[in-house]
Amino acid sequence: MIPLLAMLLQNGDLLIADFEGKDYGAWKATGAAFGAGPAPGTLPNQMAVEGFLGKGLVNSYLGGDAATGTLTSPPFKIERAAINFLIGGGEHPGETCLNLLLDGKVIRTSTGRDAERLEAESWDVAEFLGRTVALEIVDTHKGGWGHVNVDQIVQSDKALKSGPAARDVEITGRYLHLPVRTKAPKRRMKVLLGGTVVREFEIELADEKPEFWAFLEVGAWKGKTLRLEAPGAGLEAVTQGDAIRGEEPAQRPAFHFTSRRGWLNDPNGLVYHKGEWHLYYQHNPYGWNWGNMHWGHAVSKDLLRWEELPIALYPPRFGDWAFSGSAVVDAANTSGWKSGDDDVLVGAFTSTGRGECVIYSNDRGRTWKEYEGNPVVKHRGRDPKLIWHAPTKRWVMAVYNEDEGKRRIAFHSSPDLKAWTFHSFLDGYFECPDLFELPLDGDRSKTKWVLYAADGKFQLGAFDGQVFTPEGPKQTVWHGHFYAAQTYDNAPDGRRIQIGWAQNANFPGLPFNQQMTIPVELTLRSTDEGPRVFVWPVKEVETLRGGGASGRSSGPRRPGQTPFASTDTERGDFRFKLETGPVERFEFDVRGVPVVYDVAKAELSCKGKSAPLKPIKGEIQLRILVDRGSIEVFGNEGRVALSVGGILPKRTFALTAVASKDYSATIEHDEFK
Ligand code: FRU
Repeated sequence: MIPLLAMLLQNGDLLIADFEGKDYGAWKATGAAFGAGPAPGTLPNQMAVEGFLGKGLVNSYLGGDAATGTLTSPPFKIERAAINFLIGGGEHPGETCLNLLLDGKVIRTSTGRDAERLEAESWDVAEFLGRTVALEIVDTHKGGWGHVNVDQIVQSDKALKSGPAARDVEITGRYLHLPVRTKAPKRRMKVLLGGTVVREFEIELADEKPEFWAFLEVGAWKGKTLRLEAPGAGLEAVTQGDAIRGEEPAQRPAFHFTSRRGWLNDPNGLVYHKGEWHLYYQHNPYGWNWGNMHWGHAVSKDLLRWEELPIALYPPRFGDWAFSGSAVVDAANTSGWKSGDDDVLVGAFTSTGRGECVIYSNDRGRTWKEYEGNPVVKHRGRDPKLIWHAPTKRWVMAVYNEDEGKRRIAFHSSPDLKAWTFHSFLDGYFECPDLFELPLDGDRSKTKWVLYAADGKFQLGAFDGQVFTPEGPKQTVWHGHFYAAQTYDNAPDGRRIQIGWAQNANFPGLPFNQQMTIPVELTLRSTDEGPRVFVWPVKEVETLRGGGASGRSSGPRRPGQTPFASTDTERGDFRFKLETGPVERFEFDVRGVPVVYDVAKAELSCKGKSAPLKPIKGEIQLRILVDRGSIEVFGNEGRVALSVGGILPKRTFALTAVASKDYSATIEHDEFK
C-alpha cells in the first residue's frame, strides 16, 4: 500500500493549501462557520475527525452545526491536470461542499459522505489548463448534522483514484464474507442490485490481513449480480459461501447469548410465542464496535441455548437506524394484521430517521412488515415498550422522551396498536423503559406496577393505563455490567423474565463483542424495608448441571482452611451459605478474577463494581454463575445481583476467608456440561 502522504505529495505537485497556519492567509471567510483560522483537528462535542494531514484542517463545525459561511481562496491558475484533496463531513450537495469556481460558476464540486473521516478525492481539470479559478468551501447547511472538513489541496499531474472502488459479484452463496480489521479506516460500503442501493453501512474494511470475517446475508439474491462499492482495497478480499467464515472461538460464552459476529447491545422485542423465546437485539453485523444499528434475532426453547436466525430488521436507508423497541402477541388481533392461523406478533422500534414505528409478523417473528402509517409517535425520544393493559383494554407504549430537554418516560395508549394517544410523563428516567406488574409474595390479588429504566433503576407504583403513580423510593437490584434490560411479553405461567445487556463486557480479539446477562425471573417480596424486587436465574439453568463435577458440603471451617478449592472450572453454578460473624471477608477466585464479600462494609465487589449486601441472621447467601466471559453473583436469594463480563483469564475457582475463629459454611457446586 502507498501511504496516503506519499500519494498526496507526488513529484511536481503544487500545494494550494495545507491549512497548517494560524489563520487562513489570503483565503477570505464569510459567516461564522469557519472561524478565524484552521481547526486543530476535532472540536469540542464533535465525533473524532480523522484522515487529515498535519495538525490543522478546515472544519466548519467551528461554529457548531448551525453556523454557516464560506471560505474562498485567492484566484490561481490551473497548471496541472488534477486537483487532489481530502474531504469529509456532511453529504449535502451545494450546502456542505468544496467548489471549484470559474468566472463565478461552479465547475467541480464534492461533499463528504456523512462521516467525520476525510477521504481522498480528485477532480480532472485538464480541460481548464491555463485558466484562472478559485476554490470555495461552503457550509450553508441548516438544521441537523452538517458541516464540511477539508484539507491538503494540491495540483497534480496524477489524479488520485477518485470515487468508490466497485466490484460486481454474482451471488452463489448465502453469505458474502467481509474482511474486518478494527481501527482500519471506516468505509462507507454500498451494495447495489440493478443500480438500486439495497444495503449501505459503515465497515472497517481490512485492506490487509483481516481480524475476522463479518457476513452479509445475500441468499435472497442468489443468481443475481450485486455491485459492491467501497473505497480502499478491501473489496478485493470479499468471498462468499453458505457458511459464515472463520473458526468458532473457544472463548465464546457457553450459556450466555453472544452474536456470531459483530457487536450487540440492548435486548429488543422479547416475546414468547409458540414455544419459542425470541431475542431480538441491537446489532452491528459488520463491526466489533457500536454502529449500523439493525435488529439481530435469535430464538431458544429454554432461554439458554440460542439459535441465531437471519437479521430481523435492516435499516431502510443509511442513517435511518433501527434502535431499540419491543414486541407483543396481539392475541385478539386488535390490529387486524393477522393473516394466518398463528397469532400475529406486533413490534415497535425507534426509526432514527422517522420516529416510533410499528411492525408486524405473521411468520413466527422471522420477517416483519412495516405499518404503512409509520411513524405512529413523533417526538424527541426512543425505545418504545408495548404492553397490554387489561383493565382499560388498551395497548400502552412507555417510551423515553426528551422533548423540552427533560429526561422522562411518556405513556401513550392505543386500541389497535396504530392510533396512539399521549397521556402523561414521568420525569427522571433515562432510556429503554420497561413497565410490568408483579404479584406481591405470589398473591395475584395484590400487585404492584414496576417502571424500569436502562440503568437498572426502577420504581414501584400504581398504573391506571395512563398515569404512573410512584410509591416508595427508587430501587436497584442489578449492579455492574447491566443495562437496558427488558422483560418478556406473553411468558407462560405468569413468569416475569428479564434479560439485560452486560454493557462493556468486552471481548478483544474475538469476532464478536458484548453479551447478554443470564435470564432471570423477577418476583416481588415483602421485606423489612418494604416490598422489594428479587431476581433469580431462570430454573432452566438447572438443565445445564450434571455435565461435570458436583459437590455438597456443610459444616464448620477453620481459619486458614480453604473452604472451597477447585482447580479447573470453566463454567458452573456455585452456591454458598456463609456465617459472617467471625469473618472479616470472603475472597473468591473466579477464573482468575477476585470477587470479595467484605463483612464490615456489607459489600460485594468485583473488578471495581460493587453491590450492597447485608447479612441476614448472621449469614450471607451467594450464588455465582460462571461462564467463559462472565461472573454473575446473586446475593441473599436475589435481593442484589452483580454482573461482570469480559474474557476470564483462568480456569480456576476457589474460596478463601479471612476469619478469626471457626465459622460454618454450606457449599454446593455443579459444573456445567
Ligand atoms: C441504550 C440505547 C437506546 C438506543 C440504543 C441504540 O443502550 O442507547 O436508547 O435505542 O441503545 O443502539
